[in-house]
Amino acid sequence: MLTSPTFDATTVGTSVEEAVAWLKAGETVALPTETVYGLAGNALDVQAVAKIFAAKQRPSFDPLLVHVGSVEEAMRYGEWPLWALKALETLGGGPLTFVVPKKALIPDLVTSGLPSVGIRIPRHPLFLEVLNRLDFPLAAPSANPFGYISPTRAQHVVDQLGGRIPYVLNGGDCAVGVESTIVDCTLDVPTVVRHGGMALEEVEALLGRRVAVRTHSTSRPQAPGLLESHYAPRIPLIVVNEKDPVEVPCGWAAIGYHQIDHWIQVNPEMKWILSPSNSDQEAATRLFACLREADASGAQGMVVSRAPELGLGRAINDRLQRAAHFG
Ligand code: TXA
Ligand code: MG
Repeated sequence: MLTSPTFDATTVGTSVEEAVAWLKAGETVALPTETVYGLAGNALDVQAVAKIFAAKQRPSFDPLLVHVGSVEEAMRYGEWPLWALKALETLGGGPLTFVVPKKALIPDLVTSGLPSVGIRIPRHPLFLEVLNRLDFPLAAPSANPFGYISPTRAQHVVDQLGGRIPYVLNGGDCAVGVESTIVDCTLDVPTVVRHGGMALEEVEALLGRRVAVRTHSTSRPQAPGLLESHYAPRIPLIVVNEKDPVEVPCGWAAIGYHQIDHWIQVNPEMKWILSPSNSDQEAATRLFACLREADASGAQGMVVSRAPELGLGRAINDRLQRAAHFG
């Protein structure tokens, strides 16, 4: 494993200047995006990129996404098919990452040697302000240790990466709550390889063409975010159908999607509902925070209900399936 860098303390603040100063000095800082917090570093500086891998204890075979502030910059780092470029122009910023053939400017370390690179324009105003003040793009994976649940608020980052990074720019709770959807644009048919913050229906409408879906990992995955086990809490997690008569094991937490009054043996102190208003967007926003709270609650395991397989429900179910394990 890589050795993690250490700092006396990790500061949480709202100073764009400070975040920019650290990034210009070749360090990594956590920045808010509309999806989840990212651990950002200069994508053109291999030493800064190496610090990202080290802080996350992330294997170097797992490529990083590159964040840019404009369509012009996106074109500088990738070879865009016209239809993909048009989609990016229409979307502007948002929770969709485009995988395109990479240009030589992007170091191989960023893409783990792949000939393609994932590029997105985030929509969070603070992230965009940081990008505006830099003359380089930012590589940024989710700001969690490899394999654990992604952070959706500044405190989540501090809880796990505190002491390993100098600064967390606090932008409040992430509005979307799950990572960006990733669409591979290097194939004849655009292919969603990770469900995420932009629903499949919206991706198809944006691209104006048929989209394939291939989110299941092979034994040698191109994207370890697609590994069978990822996004996992420390305690065992079991996924169930909300409508079933679920019996929660003694000492376990229960996380419902909308309504679990019919579940048996729910401990009210260890109960969370992802969406009291029954909306996929609300559930996505709350998903990772609820998983973290249940993980830290002293429960011995958690039972979590699946979301309806529509809209952001696909991304939620994908994360739950990969998070499911039996300890
Ligand atoms: O919303 C997001 O996408 C967040 C925020 C911070 O932007 N970022 C994020 O990055 O989720 P990360 O590294 O945690 O997940 C990116 C996933 C990984 O599973 C990686 O393997 C995959 O994207 N990936 C990166 N480059 C790729 C490429 N060229 N082809 C296929 N998959 C790629
Ligand atoms: Mg991640």
